[in-house]
Amino acid sequence: MCGIYGITSKKIISNKLFNGLKKLEYRGYDSSGIAGLSQGNKNLVIKSTGPINHLKKKLKTIANISTGIAHTRWATHGEPLLKNTHPHNSGIIDIVHNGIIENYEDIKLYLIKKKYAFKSDTDSEVIAHLINYNYNKCKDMRSALIKSVKILEGSYAIGAINSDLPDKLFAASNGSPLIIAKGTNENYIASDISPVLKDTQKYLTLGDGEFAELSPEKVIIFDKKNKYLIKKVITTSLKDRQVSLAGHKHFMHKEIYEQKAILNEMMSRYVGQASLLPNIFGPNTDRILSKIKHIHFVACGTSYHASLVAKDWIEQHSTITCTAEVASEYKYKKINILPDTLFVCISQSGETADTISSLKKAKRLGYKDTLAICNVAESTLTRLSNLVFLMNAGPEISVASTKAFTSQLFSLLLLSIIVSRSTEESEKKMVSDMKQLDKIINSVYKLESEIKKISSKFKNKDHTLFLGKGGTYPIALEGALKLKEISYIHASAYHSGELKHGPLALVDKKMPVVCFLPDNHLAKLVLSNLAEVEARQGQTFIFTNKKIPRKNKQVEIIKMPDCPDLIVPILYIIPAQLLSYHVALKKKTDVDKPRNLAKSVTVE
Ligand code: G6P
Repeated sequence: MCGIYGITSKKIISNKLFNGLKKLEYRGYDSSGIAGLSQGNKNLVIKSTGPINHLKKKLKTIANISTGIAHTRWATHGEPLLKNTHPHNSGIIDIVHNGIIENYEDIKLYLIKKKYAFKSDTDSEVIAHLINYNYNKCKDMRSALIKSVKILEGSYAIGAINSDLPDKLFAASNGSPLIIAKGTNENYIASDISPVLKDTQKYLTLGDGEFAELSPEKVIIFDKKNKYLIKKVITTSLKDRQVSLAGHKHFMHKEIYEQKAILNEMMSRYVGQASLLPNIFGPNTDRILSKIKHIHFVACGTSYHASLVAKDWIEQHSTITCTAEVASEYKYKKINILPDTLFVCISQSGETADTISSLKKAKRLGYKDTLAICNVAESTLTRLSNLVFLMNAGPEISVASTKAFTSQLFSLLLLSIIVSRSTEESEKKMVSDMKQLDKIINSVYKLESEIKKISSKFKNKDHTLFLGKGGTYPIALEGALKLKEISYIHASAYHSGELKHGPLALVDKKMPVVCFLPDNHLAKLVLSNLAEVEARQGQTFIFTNKKIPRKNKQVEIIKMPDCPDLIVPILYIIPAQLLSYHVALKKKTDVDKPRNLAKSVTVE
């Protein structure tokens, strides 16, 4: 899961290529590089390890290029060293690659026999040599590309340039996202739309087994038989400012604050006076969903935590049984499917490899229906699923997911209401609870200055515990994940009742314990679990609307607003997001681009 950007233009593009690549940095930031062609037909290359900004000093080396490819890397095969940084070169050919070439070792042996010398430890380098090998035989770049990818096993999005053809940019795709965007006197390839938005809103998606040849004036799409394809050009409504910081210090902070408007927008789009609007999951879906008896949720990371909340909501309000599995497990498990089971996969990006292969498996297994809940319209997941629900939360740039999580929760709450409503009254009650979100959410944001203060108590910690019960257990998981991801403090989440079965052994006066305690039928039980912590002098941080006395300095109470139980998960995650944000700020980590992670994990 890396970022690819390429331009062919009538103008000089070095700065544009660099600035566009920065928009893709969330996809990987172990190292980056640019290769370009100047009018003198010379391949020029710059590379750096670490963040993309490190490339800036070297930009003058490629000052005159008008065709180029750029890459930001999240290391899979080979350490994040300069020699493993893309673009990879083979004589007149330079390539960038996203994905994994599973049979690269066999190809490498073959090419070594043909006297090709390898400089990197990557799987990607074989692509450069393979194209070079085939091009030298036929002197036709399109045929060379087709011949080369025929041999590749695995997933790839490839960008390639050839110094024999100085104004041409080539691309191929199979199982890894790549778009082709159309500008004025220049055209682009990119992993997603964000780098081109300043120049154009027009793009098409390169499908599996498809290729592209771009020049400044023209885009040609062709297939494995070198047959031209006519593809629909899409005009996105996204604007460049949606992928900029808009006055916030970090995308994560901006995205935490965007949640209110997104939820409000979803509310007005899908919720009527006292009931949901009809068929919000697509034509006829009210009828389809009313017959569902079981649901299998599958997702990864934050999206998996959203599925756990949905499982709880649905099982609380209906007789439907639900399972929630992480996609990397689902793929390899024996799955028992009862009649009338719905498969639901949840993904912000729609490109997570494990989730995609789970959906493919689900389709083979013959579920009644498959539903993808996704934030990216033109993604692999939305193309594969027969039912699709788009969250429309706008691009999420911060690697740590925030607004996608609450939008997923809102989408899943809609689904929960649809599959659970038994009477008009029951729907009316759930809808009225849901509608309180907009009003109450403001008081949660007002907690930021208090949260900022308590964040200093986490700064020097190595470990934390997060506790929840019922609907707040997934929130404890997600809160702990946020803290781990961006502050690098180890955080484990437990059902509060599980504390005494092990984790209590960790508690002493230095151990921070974060607890989500809405004032509901479970509150008493959670309070007695907290008493076990306090008896061992653990430091507790309790997010609650329950009136509880602050017995001593070891107890911090963060006063949450009263709210219906149904919307607790959506409201309680926001202070947890703010807490991890402020702890990360204090620890001076790279909030939006935490080490070793990437936004979109397109490898299994
Ligand atoms: C990566 C991201 C997480 C995300 C997970 C699933 O690990 O860093 O933030 O939750 O992938 O991504 P998806 O796009 O499928 O929701």
